Amino acid sequence: MKFRQAFYEEPLLFEMPSEAAEPIDLDGLVPPAMQRDRLNLPNLPEHEVVRHYTRLSQMNFSIDTGFYPLGSCTMKFNPKYAEELASLPTVTRVHPDQDEATIQGALRLMYELQSSLAVIAGMDAVTLQPAAGAQGEFTGLLLAQAFNHDRGEHRNEVIVPDTAHGTNFASAGMAGFDIVEIPSLDGRVDLNALRNAVSDKTLAFMITNPNTLGIFEDHITEAADIVHQDGGLLYYDGANLNAIMGKTSPGLMNFDIVHFNLHKTFTTPHGGGGPGAGPVGVKKPLEPFLPVPVVTYDGATYHLDYHRPKSIGMVRAWYGNFALLVRAYAYILRQGGDGLTRASERAVLNANYVRQRIQGTYDVPFSGLRKHEFVASGAKLMAKGVKTTDVAKRLMDYGYHPPTVYFPHLVEEALMIEPTETESRATLDAFSDALLQIAKEDPALLHSAPHNTAVARVDEVGAARDPVLSWRYLMAQPKF
Ligand SMILES: Cc1ncc(COP(=O)(O)O)c(C=O)c1O
Repeated sequence: MKFRQAFYEEPLLFEMPSEAAEPIDLDGLVPPAMQRDRLNLPNLPEHEVVRHYTRLSQMNFSIDTGFYPLGSCTMKFNPKYAEELASLPTVTRVHPDQDEATIQGALRLMYELQSSLAVIAGMDAVTLQPAAGAQGEFTGLLLAQAFNHDRGEHRNEVIVPDTAHGTNFASAGMAGFDIVEIPSLDGRVDLNALRNAVSDKTLAFMITNPNTLGIFEDHITEAADIVHQDGGLLYYDGANLNAIMGKTSPGLMNFDIVHFNLHKTFTTPHGGGGPGAGPVGVKKPLEPFLPVPVVTYDGATYHLDYHRPKSIGMVRAWYGNFALLVRAYAYILRQGGDGLTRASERAVLNANYVRQRIQGTYDVPFSGLRKHEFVASGAKLMAKGVKTTDVAKRLMDYGYHPPTVYFPHLVEEALMIEPTETESRATLDAFSDALLQIAKEDPALLHSAPHNTAVARVDEVGAARDPVLSWRYLMAQPKF
């Protein structure tokens, strides 16, 4: 299939010809002190606004338009039955401040989702509050700290392996802990390094399994023993849960705390860094510290329990991102236990299939099978002046979202590929063929790629360092 993205020279809504604002009589509706003369919003007909956003969406790339093998992000297809359920009025029109008696259905859904996630992860209790995996990490570390304070201990170190996602370091840093980074050995945690790092200052060891190389840390229970012997806790970064559902669980691996990225494993939309959902599960000893409120069930009615004296408090407004919770709940019920296991099996099969197809042209460091993702290296192409960035940009011309690149750092010119379970063999073959073809192409063609997208290469450093994230910034410029 040929790919050519739509392109429009699309102005901002503020730049479009706007009708004069029609005055609205607010007398008696809004107190005079709270009224404004001007709202500074463009006054445009609905259809112009709809067309504007639809055109912008056509210049974007999404899981609904193409293959999205963004490693570590588990960009699963978002099934439409879940979207339909999440748009029911009983979801969209409930108010978080409604009386418990009027939202028994919503509370039941939350209670059952908590329970299902606990079973999947082998944990004893779950909070649905955090709004992303990263916020789940932060919450999990606060729980570990509260647990330690409660038993009279003050531990300030968090151990993180060098394969870890940046959010692990960031969460530990934001929570005020000292970070101890340990190296890997053959793509797995070096147990000796872990032994040397662990002490009576260790609050937690944060790790994802399989790790970000897609390699299963098969000595994980040994690692857990090392950490537990010194009184530390084991934190499971659930970003890679899609590889292991129904096969093992963080609980079976002796983890104490886990976050779930509902927008990865449980097919809810990612939404550009939010709105996400990052519930956190814990083993029994940490349960009293969970954020309030916790949804409880007394055998007849569901309740929001705020009376938890040891709770770390709220970590997000209300009860979590409810519409996402509905989607994840629907997905879990629709799949059932067997379906979740099959999803993991298929995700692993798909990753290994692509690995096998491209190996040779691209190096895949470290031996053995992978789980749901693998990290290839584009280093061989450096001899003809081609970098992984060029391969990634060129993949867009073939209509694919590029894999994650340059992460994890211990693989040179890394391409981290995670196909997910729903993709067909035909798609995996076409994507592998594109990667093999790109390796043979003229470097000049790659250096100037992408050619078929609405926007060519952007100044990525500029975009990261000086992002324009709000129309207010533009409004402040002289031309407005
Ligand atoms: C391994 C790993 N840990 C943590 C996170 C953070 O999750 P979130 O994006 O939900 O904040 C990610 C996100 O991609 C990840 O891949």
